[in-house]
Amino acid sequence: MRGCVIIAALLVVACQKTDENPFDGLDRPDLNPPLESLPTGNFAWLHQKIFEPTCAESGCHDGTFEPEFRTISSAYNSIVLHPVIANDPGESFSYRVVPGDVNASFLHERMTVFVPATSGIMPLDVAPGSDWPANSQSYIAAIEQWIANGAPDMFGQLPSAGDLEPQVVGLLAFPAGSTSSPYPRGTDPGVQPIEVPSGPVDVWFAFDDANTAALDLQVNQFKLSTASMGFDTIPAQNLAVGNGFVGPDFGNANVGFTHLAALDLSGSDVGTYYFLRVYVNDGDHTEDTEIPNDGTGPPMRDYFTLKVVP
Ligand code: HEM
Repeated sequence: MRGCVIIAALLVVACQKTDENPFDGLDRPDLNPPLESLPTGNFAWLHQKIFEPTCAESGCHDGTFEPEFRTISSAYNSIVLHPVIANDPGESFSYRVVPGDVNASFLHERMTVFVPATSGIMPLDVAPGSDWPANSQSYIAAIEQWIANGAPDMFGQLPSAGDLEPQVVGLLAFPAGSTSSPYPRGTDPGVQPIEVPSGPVDVWFAFDDANTAALDLQVNQFKLSTASMGFDTIPAQNLAVGNGFVGPDFGNANVGFTHLAALDLSGSDVGTYYFLRVYVNDGDHTEDTEIPNDGTGPPMRDYFTLKVVP
């Protein structure tokens, strides 16, 4: 029965599509954890503090020039183990970011050295009011530390050689069957769970992968538990996959939400925490990608946590 409701929900959503994006008018601060709650040096922090405001300036890395810094996932996928375009005269760089090796990373070189036959040290220009001039040294140091730590994504997943693993780039929860008025996150400081009622709740996920479209991802399962670890023993359930809606990603840029976990939390006690994990495969990895995984501790784990409220 719930299956038919889900297909009906996907159909209704598909039919309801209009040009106007209902999220555009929404004030978004409580849908994603605020910037201040992100650990310094986490990739989402680097994106929100440096790559988006200073590099994705209009006419620069806003899709005009590579790397593409507008969203957290486009920034990650266009620098980590990503080949360079305008190398130095000695052609000595292979990738923009080589996990674990700052000096071999062209990104770092372009921010610290004038590479001949290029337009100069990045950022080429700084917008009025930018905090770059005051913080450039600490920002470069934060990027160096992130590279030295192996260039993990925002959930602590280390990149594997070759094709990068799929990423979850957005998560929103709604009353079952709806994709408007998402449930907010708690307002206490830090990364807070999404606050939901004890009843049927739809959790939508947005995925991004360097080479596989979200709708072509395989496996597509989720696990729900009241414990943050020990997911091996939790039965997997299927995600419903289809064109859902466009909404804010973790960096508040618009992305397509395509994967739905239909939950029924009826009978849950107020104050119960639910931990979610998703499992997908982009067809380029032998192991399925688990997000988050045991390596993702708080606070980043709590992007995937729900809390039952009255
Ligand atoms: C801290 C912020 C920025 C970072 C980290 C950054 C990083 C980079 C990197 C790594 C490249 C080389 C890509 C390759 O060849 O593979 C590059 C090229 C380029 N960037 Fe930036 N950039 C930043 C800000 C800017 C801004 C604000 C502008 C525009 C005013 C800009 C304009 C360009 C242009 C035109 C190129 C291509 C030409 C060249 O290689 O010199 N960048 N940037």
